[in-house]
Amino acid sequence: MENIKSYVQQHKDRFINELIELLKIPSVSADTAYSQDVIDTAEAVKESLSKAGCDLVEVCDTPGYPIIYGEKIIDPNLPTVLVYGHYDVQPPDPLELWTSPPFEPVIKTTDIHPEGAIFARGACDDKGQMYMHVKALEYMVQNNNLPCNVKFMIEGEEEVGSASLAWFVERNQEKLKNDVILISDTGMISNQQPSITTGLRGLSYVEVEVTGPNRDLHSGLYGGAVANPINILAKMIASLHDENNHITIPGFYDKVQELSAEERAEMAKAPFSLEKYKNALNIADVYGEKGYVTNERNSIRPTLDVNGIWGGYTGEGAKTVIASKAFAKISMRLVPNQEWEEITALFTKHFTSIAPAGVTVKVTPHHGGQGYVTPIDSIGYQAANKAYTETFGVPAIPVRSGGSIPIVALFEKELKSKTILMGFGLDSDAIHSPNEHFGIFNYLKGIETIPLFYKYFVELSK
Ligand code: BES
Ligand code: MN
Ligand code: MN
Repeated sequence: MENIKSYVQQHKDRFINELIELLKIPSVSADTAYSQDVIDTAEAVKESLSKAGCDLVEVCDTPGYPIIYGEKIIDPNLPTVLVYGHYDVQPPDPLELWTSPPFEPVIKTTDIHPEGAIFARGACDDKGQMYMHVKALEYMVQNNNLPCNVKFMIEGEEEVGSASLAWFVERNQEKLKNDVILISDTGMISNQQPSITTGLRGLSYVEVEVTGPNRDLHSGLYGGAVANPINILAKMIASLHDENNHITIPGFYDKVQELSAEERAEMAKAPFSLEKYKNALNIADVYGEKGYVTNERNSIRPTLDVNGIWGGYTGEGAKTVIASKAFAKISMRLVPNQEWEEITALFTKHFTSIAPAGVTVKVTPHHGGQGYVTPIDSIGYQAANKAYTETFGVPAIPVRSGGSIPIVALFEKELKSKTILMGFGLDSDAIHSPNEHFGIFNYLKGIETIPLFYKYFVELSK
């Protein structure tokens, strides 16, 4: 594929401008105020797949946002690659921390991206990474070198738990039949050192509500005599970790897959600088579970984090009040072989049991999903590694990520196929944060690397 490089060079301005247009539509799935925009984005994705050369493209209705399905079947006897991605994005807030508006994409340079990066919500997660696949298809169709069949499934609810996708996959197993699933919705180590994600963490996400007295009370008249739900909630949350930062929920670690000393030594070979890590976050030290290093804490170990906590008076000035209720949103990142429903049940039981008699506790599960690990001796992994080696000049390193794409485990269960996570983002791209961006280098390298995956996957499948 000599000419993929020159095709990208020749068309890069258009590739960038098309992505910018897609990024202008604020497809925030979590907030119903944006629902028309989410639907408009689905339409735009459909158009782009038709233009790139799919023979069939459908906007599939679901109980939630539509799923875009596209395909180009050139020969039923050849392998089929199923590309998954998502066109929805995270809410952009806090808006005041963006240096340019989240839905008015601009190209700016950074230390890590001297050739420029597109700043916009969704630039990396996942519109930019999803669109690389659309442009890779365009190249293969234009140059008559698509070596196998391809199917696309692009959803609009990934950031809110993929409920409709689970529904869709269960009902469309035949349509989605494939030999490998290809996803670009993760990251790599650096622009000099590609990596392939071989693991994702699972997730259990719950909301807790602690109720004390039946109304807000004067904190002088009642303070000291009744349980303050906010004080109690803070205490309960604090008790969920012990002095070694182990999680105290009984049974929480029972099914955790421990890695062997060899596997941990292998992991430690990935390049990592603790100094750079701390500097990038402006922290004096890291923090986490005793007995594990940073790269283990955020990938092979389960965690529990409060994502939001509220209650009482938070307005201007001071109000003396004991609130009737306190709330928190808590996520637990899980590792193989923890079962997310079981962990949710263990949490609920424990959290309810540690509440003092002066309050009542309600736990509401939000969503969850299983973790994922994939072997490195599969044809898919080998093909991805050959593709990266060719475009970056060095082999990719296998890395287990701390993030979650819960639908990946479901794909394996329902569609019986392995997923290859070919991510081109960087941890510093600020996904889910203000000033999310995606390097132009990364975007174009992705478009260059993907057709090689197809080529080597077909070759190795023979
Ligand atoms: N693309 C991310 C997940 C990701 C990012 C994995 C980088 C590995 C490296 C995805 O869009 C995401 O944000 N997932 C959520 C879970 C989902 C159920 C809301 C997450 O990990 O918080
Ligand atoms: Mn994503
Ligand atoms: Mn995300």
